[in-house]
Amino acid sequence: MKVDIITLFPEMCRAPLMGSILGKAMERGLWELGVHDLRQWSTDRHRRVDDTPYGGGQGMVMQCAPLFAAVEALATPDSRVVLMTPQGRRLDQRVVESYTACRHLIILCGHYEGIDHRVVETLVHDEISLGDYVLTNGAIAATILTDAVIRLLPGVLGDERSSQEESFSAATGLLEAPCYTKPVEFRGLKVPDILLSGHHANIAKWKAGQSLRRTQAMRPDLLREHRAPALSAAPLQKSPAAPADTPPA
Ligand SMILES: C[S@@+](CC[C@H](N)C(=O)[O-])C[C@H]1O[C@@H](n2cnc3c(N)ncnc32)[C@H](O)[C@@H]1O
Repeated sequence: MKVDIITLFPEMCRAPLMGSILGKAMERGLWELGVHDLRQWSTDRHRRVDDTPYGGGQGMVMQCAPLFAAVEALATPDSRVVLMTPQGRRLDQRVVESYTACRHLIILCGHYEGIDHRVVETLVHDEISLGDYVLTNGAIAATILTDAVIRLLPGVLGDERSSQEESFSAATGLLEAPCYTKPVEFRGLKVPDILLSGHHANIAKWKAGQSLRRTQAMRPDLLREHRAPALSAAPLQKSPAAPADTPPA
């Protein structure tokens, strides 16, 4: 897959996407990244890409001409053009999984008040939102979308099972079971005995039960969506935290 991000802030996308697991996957040729400064397609002598909104109002609007030129320079018949916008479809794991089938993503990042709507109507296939809040620009949103998609590509995580067992995966749609590491005991807090038993079938059963319990405690909406089976009798390992819709303290 190739991802081209068009933004006014290329440096905000490059570091997170070129390091760690995604950077190594890029070195191994599993995906390609292009991060482009929109100003290179400006014909203005000051490299401006925005102007005041028709009809009045605050802020500036990103103009058609540089965005059309950028997409026309990068697009191929395989391209899917995605606009990051708070007005778009909410990003979730199902949307992310659907993008793994694409060969080429062109991601447009807005800034200021947003982009001229003629771009949305003419060039954009999908409008995607991270959630019901407003960021200052789309670079972080594009980086998050790219990270979420690329880590699902074959070979990127090294072991496809790890993404299949993860929260929201297509396999269950539930939250992942709690995980533990060494030491076995820390300040009197012990790792559940079942995880030390070496009995793989029982461990899998325990994890399935914990996954259901945790989903019921934190995200009951997911249980309704995926019509999950009834909860097992296994106790939840950790008392539930605040409900998902409560902001962190
Ligand atoms: C300040 S926002 C513009 C918001 C716009 N005036 C509105 O009210 O819908 C600037 C840019 O940040 C990006 N952005 C802001 N919030 C976002 C979100 N929740 N999801 C995805 N992109 C977002 C978009 O690219 C947007 O064009």
